[in-house]
Amino acid sequence: MVISGKTRVCGVIGDPIAHTLSPTIQNAAFNHLKLDFVFLAFRVKPADLENAIRGMRGLGIHGLNVTMPHKSAVIKYLDQLDSTVQFLGSANTILNRDGKLFGFNTDGIGALKALQENGVALYDKKVLLLGAGGAAKAIAFAFAEEIGELVILNRAAEKAAELAAALNRVFGTKIVGGALSQSAVQQNLQDADILVNATSVGMHPNVNQSLVPAQWLKPDLAVMDIVYNPVETKLAKDAKAAGAKVISGVEMLIHQGAASFEIWTGCPAPVEVMRQAALSQLSSAGAEK
Ligand code: ATR
Repeated sequence: MVISGKTRVCGVIGDPIAHTLSPTIQNAAFNHLKLDFVFLAFRVKPADLENAIRGMRGLGIHGLNVTMPHKSAVIKYLDQLDSTVQFLGSANTILNRDGKLFGFNTDGIGALKALQENGVALYDKKVLLLGAGGAAKAIAFAFAEEIGELVILNRAAEKAAELAAALNRVFGTKIVGGALSQSAVQQNLQDADILVNATSVGMHPNVNQSLVPAQWLKPDLAVMDIVYNPVETKLAKDAKAAGAKVISGVEMLIHQGAASFEIWTGCPAPVEVMRQAALSQLSSAGAEK
């Protein structure tokens, strides 16, 4: 990589940020396409968020990813929000176009692409979504148009009900929300086509946890877990053993990053290069543990 006087700067802001995969993934893509871009990670504490966005304007930083805990707070500092950001109330991507800051959220499209690119169609299917936090909301919004039925189950049942009601105001009445009880999971899995874990359950160090008992998984189910550390969660292992199709959280991560890359560069993202970069960083991080 050669840094020149014309190199465009992109980055990610969050706190904590030290373990982000985004610089590895995005710089691999810039290098592969020989684009004069560089991508850095910036630790930005909540009290410094406004200054960070002023800095983006002042320094002419071309693009940013925004991660925890700034995705919602950042939107008040942006000039224009796309319809997804307006619904979600959170942005994960900013584009600086001639000094005007545009906000996008690529989390949902990342999940949608992860399924589609791995041969899982959503049209008219029944999706069981576990979780009602920021990631679940983005996924539900991206899936809602195409799917036949969406059931959202969350530990805090009222959050699932609120999310379902908000989605139904936009998309009609095919979305229900309720409590994440074992019986609700079991019952909904009987006729679900796609199961998505959009909770943090199963994430390192709780690698032996799963919200779905293995015996309820079946071969005609597609299972996507948003957790990517470990790359193969307990849910993913159980689903594989049951003969189900499994889409790992790495797929959502790279497709979400690919969508941000395309917003910043206008070039089709080299997804395979990004996938290999993510997997190699994850396997070397795993080796350090
Ligand atoms: P994100 O932006 O990654 O979605 P979040 O908004 O904090 O993060 O949401 C975390 C999700 O994981 C929520 O749906 C949360 O459930 P609650 O709303 O009931 O807190 C879910 N979650 C986290 N730990 C969980 C656990 N041990 N069991 C079940 N759900 C859990």
